[in-house]
Amino acid sequence: MIYSFEKINYVKGELELPGDKSLSHRSVMFAAMAKGESIIRNCSNSEDVHSTMECFSKLGVEFEKTEKYIKVKGKGYKNFNAPMIELYAGNSGTTTRLISGILCAQNFSSIITGDESLSKRPMMRVVEPLRLMGANIETTAGGTLPMKIKVAGKLVPVNYKLQVASAQVKSALLLAALHLEEESVIIETVPTRNHTEKLLGLRTEETTEGTKIYSSKKNYPEPFEITVPSDISTAAFFIVLALLAKNSELIIKNVSLNETRTGIIEVLKKMGAEISIEKEFLEKGEKVGDLLIRSSAIRNVEIPESVIPNIIDEIPILAVAGIFAEGNFRINNAKELRVKESDRIKSLCHNFKLAGLNVDEFEDGFEISGSLTEKQVTFESFGDHRIAMAFSVLSMLMKNGGTVNQFESVGVSNPSLVEQLKKICK
Ligand code: S3P
Repeated sequence: MIYSFEKINYVKGELELPGDKSLSHRSVMFAAMAKGESIIRNCSNSEDVHSTMECFSKLGVEFEKTEKYIKVKGKGYKNFNAPMIELYAGNSGTTTRLISGILCAQNFSSIITGDESLSKRPMMRVVEPLRLMGANIETTAGGTLPMKIKVAGKLVPVNYKLQVASAQVKSALLLAALHLEEESVIIETVPTRNHTEKLLGLRTEETTEGTKIYSSKKNYPEPFEITVPSDISTAAFFIVLALLAKNSELIIKNVSLNETRTGIIEVLKKMGAEISIEKEFLEKGEKVGDLLIRSSAIRNVEIPESVIPNIIDEIPILAVAGIFAEGNFRINNAKELRVKESDRIKSLCHNFKLAGLNVDEFEDGFEISGSLTEKQVTFESFGDHRIAMAFSVLSMLMKNGGTVNQFESVGVSNPSLVEQLKKICK
């Protein structure tokens, strides 16, 4: 589907967004693992989280959806039903990688498949360390889906230093470790999102080697209730739109402000953005607050390597902000972008060229300079939700608007994007 946007005049109003995708995936998974009923309020309505629920339905977990919450009837320790068919993870890397950690500890075999994009993404990053725990997993020769998880002999605890800065890999190992009496230690040298640790209440320790995270059966989840805060990665698109449109003011309520996710706010503030945090509180150990955003004149700043994992999903929209900022926008140390839902370095560079900008592409990033074309452009989403949303925002800021193809891909994280935009764009 092609979707066209006209230039907007300004942004005004208040938004409350669906629950954070990373927290929703984990809430669904941990509720499915716990024995008994859990309640999830404001769960993400994304296709990705739907994929997680579909996988667990095939493992015998029951979900009862009401307007206000999802009730999950979890199965308990090693008590899932053997799936009759393959578990289809759709477009979702988080579903695939996290569930692989749970499945390798079960007493049945399973197969995980995915869509075209997910079937190209690297899986050895989880398979190799899970194999060190004794897991019996096979992939294609290229290390991609389908992933065949067979019944393992006895799993063993590990003391493992992460080789990739990836919360998905870290979580897969921590989840497998929940099935063992003996404690495993996962060592992280570059901080990545820590929702798994926080929701499961895992013990962590700062050492000279890095952060040590401990997980064992004593951390296995019990039934719980949670209200998932609004997704900061989704909020980022509205934040940038409100910053760049003239005479704008936007409030986004109850946003997840976990310190491993707020890099986007810090970088934008360094660029001169007027963003303030109001009314902070904690939900299940996770910081939540309202954001107030006002139109701002911004300038490009150096983006340090250490912040990259914290802003990894926000780089597409941050780059859009960078076009409107004083100076050139440049990002490096972001090679991970090449193995996301699309090769995001390639996708971004392609579209910025279409927008009339000068682009220098590097293996681990890119630099943009020049000025935007006045022509109406049709942007290529590459079927990647964050690329589609970033160029939707750019279209709304261009003199003659713009068009985004395969626009339906926004549903992977935010099926309600158009209604939300209609509410606040004037
Ligand atoms: C996620 C971790 C990140 C992120 C993804 C969600 C998670 O992926 O890009 O959108 O929920 O754990 P990596 O672990 O591959 O960096």
